[in-house]
Amino acid sequence: MYNTNKILKGEAFLKGDKSISHRLLMMASLIEDESVLYNVSDASDVITTIDCLKECGVNIQLKSKIFPSTSIKIKGGNLQNPTNVLNCQNSGSTARMLIGLLAGQGIKASFSGDDSLLKRPMLRIIEPLIDMGVDIQSNNNFLPLNINLKNIKPINYCIKTNSAQVKSALMFAALGSKEYSYIAYNEYTRNHSEKLLQYLNCNLEIGGKIKIKKTIFRKGIKVHVPGDISSAAFLIAASIIIPGSKIKLRNILYNSTRMGFIEILKKMGAKIKISEINNDSFESTCTIESEFSPNLVPVKINKDNIIQLIDEIPILCAVATQVGGRTIIEDAGELRLKESDRLHAICENLKSMGADVSEREEGLSIVGKKKLYNTTINSFGDHRIAMSFEILNFLVSGTYCGSFSNIIKVSFPDFYNTIDCLSK
Ligand code: S3P
Repeated sequence: MYNTNKILKGEAFLKGDKSISHRLLMMASLIEDESVLYNVSDASDVITTIDCLKECGVNIQLKSKIFPSTSIKIKGGNLQNPTNVLNCQNSGSTARMLIGLLAGQGIKASFSGDDSLLKRPMLRIIEPLIDMGVDIQSNNNFLPLNINLKNIKPINYCIKTNSAQVKSALMFAALGSKEYSYIAYNEYTRNHSEKLLQYLNCNLEIGGKIKIKKTIFRKGIKVHVPGDISSAAFLIAASIIIPGSKIKLRNILYNSTRMGFIEILKKMGAKIKISEINNDSFESTCTIESEFSPNLVPVKINKDNIIQLIDEIPILCAVATQVGGRTIIEDAGELRLKESDRLHAICENLKSMGADVSEREEGLSIVGKKKLYNTTINSFGDHRIAMSFEILNFLVSGTYCGSFSNIIKVSFPDFYNTIDCLSK
């Protein structure tokens, strides 16, 4: 259909998973012994977490920046009240998880962020943290927000939002209490905090509820962070819709709570092979091979499968434009509360490319195989919107705009370079 003169071929290396990097840094900040974290994400969201932890007195040094990977040395165990406001920039994970972590450690701190973060809901963590005895003043349940501690109390709480950030914030806060907290959660939310804390021999039991209490972690963490599966998603999607493409990604995170996108693509008939699964560390890794898949069929996304691919909906919608039939996305209201209103951002950009798309209150409907035209992307300041539409522009015209580095670096600073390397 398109005269794409570029194809994606070969292997790419991906930096460490962003979700896991945040958590490792936060946990290492509680440990006096030296931790060494290999292949930490260099996404600006993760640098934001590093900067905030440094403000709280954590000693963090870049050990080596030998291409392509970054290692970090970190010595914690002595968190202090920061003198400056903790600027969480664009990072919801930094804000929500760090508020929980610092509240649990009795730290007095103020948090703020960029225009997008100031609009993201914080009631989901404020309400349970107040129950735990944290004194919080916020801007009507949004940032800026101050925490001030009385004594952290254990909690018995059922999380109302299907959110791993909220789950992690409460688990991290509960690490400050000598008595057990009980947290009921949705089992499909990403489980990196549970896995990491289990690896660190935390006082933790995971059943229908998470049971967790204070633990002194003595030994530094020395791990290699698996490649970012959410960054991989953009490359995999591109290889599937760009005729002639075939790529291989090694050492990528393999975790059932993050594989939703791959599973859905397979259901759609995409040619994807997973091999070399390695379960030797705190998180598993795998090799993913994917190639152009011309006969994709539509799927329905709803409450049964959306959690495991919540961050991949924008790129899934890009793929949906190449499917013979109607892709339906339901129960996706949370997407309106991400770095942008993603349902609206996807719809606007798809419309401007000429796609058949309609926006619903909690979802989208996309009929594929309509001819698309190269467009001026409106990123809405959102890294995942920018990358999704750069991929579609690349499909349509064999080139990308290339002007969103500053936005894309929030999660995948190597995005343009990686596309260049694969399409040489
Ligand atoms: C994340 C959880 C998800 C996801 C975000 C990262 C995490 O957010 O969208 O990009 O690392 O825990 P929610 O927990 O708000 O769904």
